[in-house]
Amino acid sequence: MTTQTPQETTKDVPKEIFLRDYKPPSHSFAKVELAFDLREQGTTVRSIISAVPASGSTGELFLHGDESVKLDGVTVNGSAHERYERGSKGLTLKDLPNEPFELSITTTIEPQENTALEGLYKSSGNFCTQCEAEGFRRITFYQDRPDCMSTFTTRIEADKAKYPVLLSNGNLIDSGELEGGRHFTVWEDPWVKPCYLFALVAGNLGMIEDKFKTMSGKDVTLRIFTEKHNIDKCAHAMTSLIKSMKWDEETFGLEYDLDLFNIVAVDDFNMGAMENKSLNIFNSRLVLATPQSATDADYAAIEGVVAHEYFHNYTGNRVTCRDWFQLSLKEGLTVYRDQEFSADMNSRGVKRIGDVSRLRTAQFAQDAGPMAHPIRPESYIKMDNFYTVTVYEKGAEVVRMYETLLGKDGFRKGMDLYFQRHDGQAVTTEDFFAAMSDANGADLSTFKPWYSQAGTPRVTANGSYDADAKTFTLSLTQVVPKTPGQDTKIPVMCPVAVGLVGPDGKDMELTLDGKSVGTTTVLRFDKAEATYTFTGVEAKPVPSILRNFSAPVRLTTNLTQDDLVFLMANDSDAFNRWEAGQTLLRTLLLDLIKGDGQYKMDAAITTAMRAIIAGAKEPNADKAFIARAMMVPSAGELSDMLDEGTVDPAKIHEARTFVMKTLATELRADLEATMKANSAEKYSNEPADRAARSLKNTCIGYLSYLDDAAIAAMTYERFASADNMTDKIAALNSLSDKECDERIKAFAEFYEEWNKDPLVMNKWLGLQAMSNLPNNIANVKALMEGPAFDIKNPNKVYSLIGGFCASSVNFHAADGSGYEFLADVVIKLDDLNGQVASRMVSAFTRWKKYEPSRSSAMRAQLERIRAKKGLSENVFEIVSKSLEA
Ligand code: PHE
Ligand code: ZN
Repeated sequence: MTTQTPQETTKDVPKEIFLRDYKPPSHSFAKVELAFDLREQGTTVRSIISAVPASGSTGELFLHGDESVKLDGVTVNGSAHERYERGSKGLTLKDLPNEPFELSITTTIEPQENTALEGLYKSSGNFCTQCEAEGFRRITFYQDRPDCMSTFTTRIEADKAKYPVLLSNGNLIDSGELEGGRHFTVWEDPWVKPCYLFALVAGNLGMIEDKFKTMSGKDVTLRIFTEKHNIDKCAHAMTSLIKSMKWDEETFGLEYDLDLFNIVAVDDFNMGAMENKSLNIFNSRLVLATPQSATDADYAAIEGVVAHEYFHNYTGNRVTCRDWFQLSLKEGLTVYRDQEFSADMNSRGVKRIGDVSRLRTAQFAQDAGPMAHPIRPESYIKMDNFYTVTVYEKGAEVVRMYETLLGKDGFRKGMDLYFQRHDGQAVTTEDFFAAMSDANGADLSTFKPWYSQAGTPRVTANGSYDADAKTFTLSLTQVVPKTPGQDTKIPVMCPVAVGLVGPDGKDMELTLDGKSVGTTTVLRFDKAEATYTFTGVEAKPVPSILRNFSAPVRLTTNLTQDDLVFLMANDSDAFNRWEAGQTLLRTLLLDLIKGDGQYKMDAAITTAMRAIIAGAKEPNADKAFIARAMMVPSAGELSDMLDEGTVDPAKIHEARTFVMKTLATELRADLEATMKANSAEKYSNEPADRAARSLKNTCIGYLSYLDDAAIAAMTYERFASADNMTDKIAALNSLSDKECDERIKAFAEFYEEWNKDPLVMNKWLGLQAMSNLPNNIANVKALMEGPAFDIKNPNKVYSLIGGFCASSVNFHAADGSGYEFLADVVIKLDDLNGQVASRMVSAFTRWKKYEPSRSSAMRAQLERIRAKKGLSENVFEIVSKSLEA
């Protein structure tokens, strides 16, 4: 790509980094000893590195270092070394010895002024670090790249009264008192690691402790640290950690490798959480929970993320990435692992549906826009911009496809070989591919393009039954669409899981190529076109195609409406049962959106929905599944399915509202009965109670579309009497688009009750920001000035500004006011935190999708942002790629 220089901005032109330019490091680091002297101003860091030149070393060593780091001195083997050059990205040391030497570097940094929340910074008065991807260079000069692996010893010195807790990676090997009210600890991490896994915490923190006995009988101490007033909110995170440790032993034979595992929760954090070796640091929203302050969705997210970070100990830490282009090696794999864990802990089908919905709404959209990239990107300007739904979620789908192709046992064999070959190494996605193929003696060569090609393959499936020959023929085609920088594509192996459902609603036994293949078979579809003929098919079946969403593709089939209704009722595959209903709803909604504005409901859909709701009365009803099946495709998912240059968010909103309102009107009695039948006397956190809660709240959500004062009163009543946050938020959400006194009252009372709890306030901000009430932008602007908001706190920005961008009506207001507001915020945020600003500006990325007046208004704001002086590289990359694609 060509990138335009931001005007008079960074001293250097933002530089694009390419995978093809990878070179191994000039030196390896055998050992690193760090010493931090933490101060309110001027924290000093001394680093002693045992450096070993690689063969052919030129005597030069480049160390990354941010401009904010003050260099106090360099010594080599104990003597001052002044032959170096400092540039804006780091330090080039010259005339270094040709044999191993000791390098010592002293720097001074100002964590108290760090608003980027990368490197060493302060959150709620405590010191903490975030080094992935490239934050370590804000602490000291170092080869800040994941293939530079070393053991670390860390000494931390600080004021004892202010910072009684001093933590780093590994084992505590020394501690003591110092003069002037200060104290110190020394930590030693015996495992080699790249510096992005380094962590330090110093603070006045409370702690809960538990224990885990590993499968070989070792005792591990588990600790979770938070600010003291939150210490009673950590139990769920601890339970989740213990479950994760057990699951990884049982599923993959992976046992924890130190005597101590720490989690620290902090309020100011750019991302969700971080897998630093034995010292995970978490955004507090992913640790703290009580039934009164956190929703069922929060509980599930905590369980999943605690597991995710723990699982990184092997997939990420013990085996890490050679370079950042390999990010999906650890993230795709670890997301796959946490998805499987959550599926085992909860309802597997519902988990899969949630994961696929997210993939389709967010990742498919990314893969069709200017930021489309393969799960192994080819280049980046700022690595932070590549922690994407593509690398994570599509990456997890790619890992899942190995499992689908090789089976559970084959997959496990591949994992075992991967660890056997690469423990302690920094490797590539090719190495993972090779381990999977070799362990199974499988030829997966046509699978490889999943790593290098961007874009979501489009697969069509046409089935036909031949009653005379008793055969069912399935014809598949695939096309991978063009994406920026990739004009030609080749077919890629898509595992397509297929079953045939007989007229009795049961799966048929399948015969393919003369072999009996069970009731679900995985077709290895790796050509532009292929045909598969099942024989001995006694009666006309309905095919169930892409069961469990066996490949991340856009599927079109020739199934009729009757076929889909049949699958909704009969498919043994939970995902496809759900998908059949979604296909019906999507078809209806897209017709309405593209139509002439004369909205008409499809009676078959109302009937199908009534049947779904009626299913809740069955004795063993899967209520969580029913709640999901009742959901109408989101505005984002619909928008993604419309043509470039046509999206009018107001129309999508209208069409969705019409469908919801019509269903609510026609099914009112069923919804009210189901709501009542599933209203519990008292909160409980058992799976069945959670499922009933989600069903009940889905019913309330539908009913809120009715213009009926009684519904608003009932919803308010439920809000006021709720004994848990799930129900409170559901009721508040159901009021948030309604122009009524109950809404005003509920939001005011919620504030009164919860304004001391920042995590709960984020929910309050988010719900108001997302509201589709006309002119709600004024409310959002007022909230931005109010006491619940703080532009320096990422969670608050994501809730209020991110929430606002999710409002079809107000962000996309026809007068462009929403776009102008977002651009104002991005420009302001950019000076404080480039990562958060670039996430927010991403709401503009798909400007070309929209109808002409909105797309030109969005484009104008992108140009205004690009013209800002001193624009961060983070925002520059997103803005320039969006404009140029
Ligand atoms: N590696 C973290 C995870 O996915 C995410 C993260 C990336 C956190 C960069 C902070 C900074 O588990
Ligand atoms: Zn991760």
